Amino acid sequence: MSQTKILLDESDIPTQWYNVIADMPNKPAPPLGPDGKPVPPQALGAIFPPQLIEQEISGQRWIPIPDPVREIYRMWRPSPLYRAHRLEAALETSAKIYYKYEGVSPAGSHKPNTAVAQAYYNQQAGIHRLTTETGAGQWGSSLALAGRMFGIEVRVYMVKVSYEQKPFRRSMMQTWGAEVLASPTNLTEAGRKILASDPNCPGSLGIAISEAVEEAATRKDTNYSLGSVLNHVLHHQTVIGQEAKKQMEKAGDYPDVVIGCCGGGSNFAGIAFPFFADKAAGKKVRLLAVEPASCPTLTKGVYAYDFGDAIGMTPLMKMYTLGHDFVPPGIHAGGLRYHGDSPLVSQLVHEGLIEAIAVKQLPTFEAGVQFARAEGIIPAPESCHAIRAAIDEALAAKKAKEPRTILFNLSGHGHFDMAAFDKYFAGELEDFEYPKDAIEESIKHLPKVAA
Ligand SMILES: Cc1ncc(COP(=O)(O)O)c(C=O)c1O
Repeated sequence: MSQTKILLDESDIPTQWYNVIADMPNKPAPPLGPDGKPVPPQALGAIFPPQLIEQEISGQRWIPIPDPVREIYRMWRPSPLYRAHRLEAALETSAKIYYKYEGVSPAGSHKPNTAVAQAYYNQQAGIHRLTTETGAGQWGSSLALAGRMFGIEVRVYMVKVSYEQKPFRRSMMQTWGAEVLASPTNLTEAGRKILASDPNCPGSLGIAISEAVEEAATRKDTNYSLGSVLNHVLHHQTVIGQEAKKQMEKAGDYPDVVIGCCGGGSNFAGIAFPFFADKAAGKKVRLLAVEPASCPTLTKGVYAYDFGDAIGMTPLMKMYTLGHDFVPPGIHAGGLRYHGDSPLVSQLVHEGLIEAIAVKQLPTFEAGVQFARAEGIIPAPESCHAIRAAIDEALAAKKAKEPRTILFNLSGHGHFDMAAFDKYFAGELEDFEYPKDAIEESIKHLPKVAA
């Protein structure tokens, strides 16, 4: 049997982040201000440090990773690549399945790859306080951890439904010293506005972003940090795919398809974009983003300019969106409940260079449990979406009696999500139908921008 764990040395940790913009056939559409004109980069200075703004607009293929960031990466990177021998056997498939496991970070997911970088650049800019949002709690935990490492105070607006479903994520953030609030709160204009129209609002990532941005924009000592969507976040995550490429090479293989679950797009881009560089150079490789059927941004949204938050405080970004005031059903993959998506992932989907599918909640848990029973690792509900797609690819190869090499990103473990698994076992989880009416209503409120 070939290797199960394909490991790299600490000296193999990438020294640069990859910027996909350099290889995109068309340059990204710029973010726009309320006047419909491109936002001048310095306008972002109220909430972001200069080096992250520079990375946000950079077209350079490679961005050097500062040594202090690489030093912290050494705590868990390079992350292992596994060959899923046991899952392959359980599926009796002709396909080979590999997965890159990001759950080995202290916070349990891929999110610290960018949290550490963002905390570092803020510290360099003399910032001692950060606000952020979190859905599932993975991002908030990661920024809490990174803030602790660079002496930065962190306040986290946690989507209320997740705050209630996942009390131990909150404890985790508090252990690293962060303050956690259930969003919507009555501490911000944005939160008060939402609560006035819906006192029982379960919250959403869009609302939590509004609250965190508002606080950062109105306090001089505070910056804002985002866990996905933006270009710089996606660049930081490319350490995943760069390592995976080396590991696949070490295994003597190359993927036919690279899969990641997709909320704001960062873990998908993290594994897929370094392979996009090969695709742009003519290599045959499919890149597949997997989202929940209850929040089907890439597959049922419109490709248009929209706000990144619920209230309309952020610049307008050209992306697939379900409408900024769409509040998705309270599914258990909290990290995938976002109305929009990364502009870079959106553009590549729009141009037909990346594929996207949506899967329902119950089949994702079924796949996650099948994976855990074969491979041992209990996946995060978000990651179960990637597993579902990987299993379906393996079954399709079996049916077609074809070989297929599948690589997916196991973006995090599910140790703090066992309440969701309990509900699945008790038959209490629902397959929310695609909320067509709510999405149609929300799409009516898209800001009017000349195309
Ligand atoms: C484990 C895990 N995977 C995936 C995601 C989705 O985010 P993104 O699309 O930015 O990777 C999250 C978000 O919280 C997460 O916690």
